[in-house]
Amino acid sequence: MSSQAELERLISETLIDEERLSRRIAELGEEISADYAGHDLLLVGVLKGAVFFMSDLMRHLTIPCEIDFMAISSYAGATESSGVVRILKDLDMNIEGRDVLVVEDIIDSGLTLSYLMRNLESREPASLEICALLTKPERREIDVPVRYVGFEIPNRFVVGYGLDFDEKYRNLPYVGVLDPELEANLP
Ligand code: IMP
Ligand code: MG
Repeated sequence: MSSQAELERLISETLIDEERLSRRIAELGEEISADYAGHDLLLVGVLKGAVFFMSDLMRHLTIPCEIDFMAISSYAGATESSGVVRILKDLDMNIEGRDVLVVEDIIDSGLTLSYLMRNLESREPASLEICALLTKPERREIDVPVRYVGFEIPNRFVVGYGLDFDEKYRNLPYVGVLDPELEANLP
């Protein structure tokens, strides 16, 4: 079993600390509450990475809202997109006529989200927007219209605050850059 200190040795740099995360998420919460005033909002979280962001974000919403989750896969334990997107868990709710805000941890190539948006759009929600904690604009392969962005980050592989590398490091309370050597040495 590795200790938290050992885990943190594998992080080469803190990109966004806890304080910046919580300040920005409070701002996003205010903005979303104002934009959706008078609407009955449904937050759709993309498992698993968005869980931390979504639970903090919704505590800053001052409007009525509900949540649901979807799980999709685009990566198989690797850091590069395979381009293959599969629905592993679908929504429990019917979103027809609903105001839907998809909550994502990070947009990289955009492939995952562009597939998901097409899929959700076909279910005829009243509105459909995206809120992503992080985005790597340099890596974008497909244009996805993102209404709310927490932070634009450089092209580095990041972990923590929900983001994983091979399912690990989600529990770090900040967003850090994974040691590039570790990234290169693992499958
Ligand atoms: P996309 O389809 O390339 O936009 O990939 C989006 C998904 O890839 C995200 O939901 C993450 O699960 C994963 N991902 C992309 N970049 C990173 C990263 O830097 N750290 C951890 N996961 C990432
Ligand atoms: Mg992931």
